[in-house]
Amino acid sequence: MKNLFRPRLKQDQQNLTLSLDKNNIPEHVAIIMDGNGRWANRRGMPRIVGHQNGMKAVKRTTIAADELGIKYLTMYAFSTENWKRPKDEVDFLMKLPQEFLALEMDELVEKNVQVKMMGHTDALPKYTIAAMEEAVKRTENNTGLVLNFALNYGSRREITESLRTAVQEIASGTLQLEDLNEDWISSRLLTKGIPDPDLLIRTGGEIRLSNFMLWQLAYSEFWFTDVYWPEFSKEHLIAAVAEFQRRTRRYGGLT
Ligand code: IPE
Ligand code: IPE
Ligand code: MG
Repeated sequence: MKNLFRPRLKQDQQNLTLSLDKNNIPEHVAIIMDGNGRWANRRGMPRIVGHQNGMKAVKRTTIAADELGIKYLTMYAFSTENWKRPKDEVDFLMKLPQEFLALEMDELVEKNVQVKMMGHTDALPKYTIAAMEEAVKRTENNTGLVLNFALNYGSRREITESLRTAVQEIASGTLQLEDLNEDWISSRLLTKGIPDPDLLIRTGGEIRLSNFMLWQLAYSEFWFTDVYWPEFSKEHLIAAVAEFQRRTRRYGGLT
């Protein structure tokens, strides 16, 4: 079934927001922003137009998440597998952070947003890293919503690298084998200092994780929608949070 309902009136939006339980807002929402290319193709436009419009959805969703009281918003912007795409598309995607931040930085600062980045920076162009680093630095003392971009992020690589570090530290004697536990691994992942997602959203109709936060999503609630990312709006976020609030999280125990 398609999650396509879309109340148009501001009043409807306010009523929907009010219907949420203020005491049970997910602290960390992670989003696999998928469907940009198909959104554009369906309109007879090149895929990059979808990415351009996807950027607007990032802004809308950041503001909406902040208004709902979400504390951490992680956005999957580029995976370690996305390098397989045509060079033109990859080049375009690599320029988007710079463009997004140039347009939105002032408002993010004003809204007290903290920008963070997680990903394997080695393969990223210098200008992409520079734009992200500047945004991170400019917002590092902010205390509001954490907007965490996953850029050239791959969960298997992230876990593999933490294992390498563990082996090296054990070999050099700085880590004892008995101290290698779940907390140690969590502290060596790119999400260090960020709680695990409470809610994972994937747009674009695919029901898979595509190498996203495999460790961190162990007990997250999942919400999938056919809506393409450029169409994602506050109503969809509210619908996802409302569904989250209907779930019972047992963590393997009993209620
Ligand atoms: C998500 O949209 C953005 C990235 C993966 C960078 P897609 O580009 O995957 O769009 P579809 O899935 O092909 O429609
Ligand atoms: C996942 O989307 C990655 C991002 C949204 C950045 P993909 O479009 O790359 O995923 P697959 O290839 O359909 O699994
Ligand atoms: Mg896709």
